[in-house]
Amino acid sequence: MGIATGLAFAHHGRKVFAYDVNPQVRATLRASRSPYRELGLEPLLRTEIRAGRFVVVDDLAELSREAQVLFLCVPTPASASGRINLAPLRGAVKELGATLRGRRDFRLVVLKSTVVPGTADSVVEPLLRQASARGPDSLGVASNPEFLAEGRMVADALAPARVVFGVCDRRSERWLRQVYAGFGAPILTLSRPEAELVKYSSNAFLALKVSFANELSRWTERLGGNVDAVATAVGADPRIGPSFLRAGPGFGGSCFEKDLRAFAHRAGELGLAARAAEAALAINREQADHVVDLIRATAGDLAGSTVAVLGLAFKPGTDDVRESRAFPIVESLLRAGASVRVHDPVAQGNFEREWRQRFGESLPPPSSCSSVPAALRAADTAVLQADWPEYVRWNARWTRTMRRPLLVDLRRALTAAAPAGLTVVGLGVGPVASATPAARSGKRSRRRS
Ligand SMILES: NC(=O)c1ccc[n+]([C@@H]2O[C@H](COP(=O)([O-])OP(=O)(O)OC[C@H]3O[C@@H](n4cnc5c(N)ncnc54)[C@H](O)[C@@H]3O)[C@@H](O)[C@H]2O)c1
Repeated sequence: MGIATGLAFAHHGRKVFAYDVNPQVRATLRASRSPYRELGLEPLLRTEIRAGRFVVVDDLAELSREAQVLFLCVPTPASASGRINLAPLRGAVKELGATLRGRRDFRLVVLKSTVVPGTADSVVEPLLRQASARGPDSLGVASNPEFLAEGRMVADALAPARVVFGVCDRRSERWLRQVYAGFGAPILTLSRPEAELVKYSSNAFLALKVSFANELSRWTERLGGNVDAVATAVGADPRIGPSFLRAGPGFGGSCFEKDLRAFAHRAGELGLAARAAEAALAINREQADHVVDLIRATAGDLAGSTVAVLGLAFKPGTDDVRESRAFPIVESLLRAGASVRVHDPVAQGNFEREWRQRFGESLPPPSSCSSVPAALRAADTAVLQADWPEYVRWNARWTRTMRRPLLVDLRRALTAAAPAGLTVVGLGVGPVASATPAARSGKRSRRRS
């Protein structure tokens, strides 16, 4: 998030100094390479470094000497209870505060990381004032949550739909307006806790839309119909809107699960309820089980069968596997006795690392395949988890390499126009029957479209 937003400021003409605690990240950035696979990030990085607008520095003191507005973009992970873990943020604030000591020229520190409402007021500002020994005359503290989405980070950061400021003084607002000059986005100025609440409310609402569509997918599978037809008609109501009403294997990524759990935890601390967020989380967890039920109902007994899972990132366009649905799906398939092969054009290494962290020696990993044909060779079932364009442009030869040409399409990317000879069963497209005799025996069966 920090790289994409920093580059967006540079693109709009600000001079940006960037610091990351990890020296490898700094070296990678300095070499004009992006540490993450994200559409358009590397070309923008090259342009801004070449133009001298994006400069990577090696220590925090240099950063606070050079920059007047300092954005905190450090991770705010969830702890086991769901409570937001502020240790990285506290550490960064203390370190940054210490570098601001003994100087009098005004600085504005802006909290961009996602934090539970009240964090700027009760944690960041007191810590910063203590560490820097500065009062409000020489140090402003503001909130400016970030709404970009992975896979389209660059586009979102360059042209945000709206910018939210959380401020408690005019000077901080004025400085922030200068930073965002030329972005062309509507600016909404709120208090700091309000701005923090906007971020969690937005994520809870978006997650709720996804979960709503996922629940709907079970209806269309049971009753017969296509979840997209129903969701499109529902979303055509301008009071509802079509975006995020898209059924799939459930939401993943670094934000929704973590933010909704933190939101629910914070609600408990305040004696409030976050039932909508909790419902979105519960439906999301059920959807992982539902996907495995769908695979089982379609493919029959999984024990001894070979299943290829295509797409390991939590969605196409990124190599981020945090909270990817590929983990519960592959885990369930392995535990059901299937031999599992996996492929992803960019996220395979991250998936393997995260698998080792999650399961250690307790569950051997699936076989990683370097190509789609290698994953599909003699497979009984393929599962489309992330609809990368190369999978959607299905190659007819791939069908012939499978022992049984059956695809469980969790994104309905190939459901409407199934490639010849391939049986495609789309999540949310019903009625779903248990494995057809033809599918079980490996004969080419009627394709669903
Ligand atoms: N990823 C997203 O799409 C997204 C969108 C909106 C908001 N956010 C929020 O942005 C924040 C960061 O998320 P992310 O996905 O970019 O995390 P990330 O883990 O991908 O990156 C965080 C970076 O911060 C660095 N870092 C950690 N401690 C530091 C310190 N003390 N000083 C300097 N650098 C430090 C790490 O080395 C790492 O490179 C989180 O609060 C997240 O919720 C993320």
